[in-house]
Amino acid sequence: PARVVVLLSGTGSLCAALLDAGRPSFTVVAVGADREAPGLAGPRERGLPTFVLRLGDHPDRAAWDAALADAVAAHEPDWVVCAGFMKLLGPAVLARFGGRLVNTHPALLPAFPGAHAVRDALAAGVTTTGATVHLVDAGLDTGPVLAQTPVPVLPGDDEARLHDRIKTVERALLVDTITTLTSSRSGTP
Ligand code: GAR
Repeated sequence: PARVVVLLSGTGSLCAALLDAGRPSFTVVAVGADREAPGLAGPRERGLPTFVLRLGDHPDRAAWDAALADAVAAHEPDWVVCAGFMKLLGPAVLARFGGRLVNTHPALLPAFPGAHAVRDALAAGVTTTGATVHLVDAGLDTGPVLAQTPVPVLPGDDEARLHDRIKTVERALLVDTITTLTSSRSGTP
C-alpha cells in the first residue's frame, strides 16, 4: 500500500477517518502536527509514530519549513495529506513533496479560502457551501481541485453546526479521494 503521512493541527477527525478507512491501497505511517494537537492522541494510541514541529521553536519560518520537510521525509511517504493543518506549507516541503501533497478544505474552493472558511461562507449568506480536496501549491488553498461535495446551509446554522455537517461529508470525500489517488499506478510507485 501507498505510504501516507498526515499533518494536522486540531481534533483530527479527518485523520481518524483515514486511519479507520481500512482501504487496501494506502496506509497512514505517521502523523505530524505544528502543536500538541488533540488529534495526535488517537494515532498515538494505535502506536503510530507522531511528531510535533512548532513554528515558535525554530529561528524563522524557513528553518521550520526545512525541519518539517525532513520530519515528513523520514517516514518515506508516497502522499502527504493536510487534514486540518492550519499552517501554510513552505518551499522546502513543496519542493520535496509537490504533486504528492493533498489538502482538505471546508468550502467549495475557489470560494472561501483561508482559515475561516465556514464563518466566511455564513457571513456571505450563501445557500450552498461544501468541502474540497485539492493538491497543494504555493498559494493559500489555490492548488488543482481533485474532488468536491456540496453541503446546503440550513436555517439556524451557526459556524459549529455547519462545520460539523461539512466534516461529515468531508471525511468520506477525503477517504475516497486518497483511495482513488493511491489506486492509480502513479500513486503507488
Ligand atoms: C476540517 O474541516 C478541515 O477542512 C479544516 O479543518 C477541519 C479539521 O477537522 N481545515 C482548514 O480549515 C484548513 N484551512 P478535524 O480536526 O476534525 O480533522
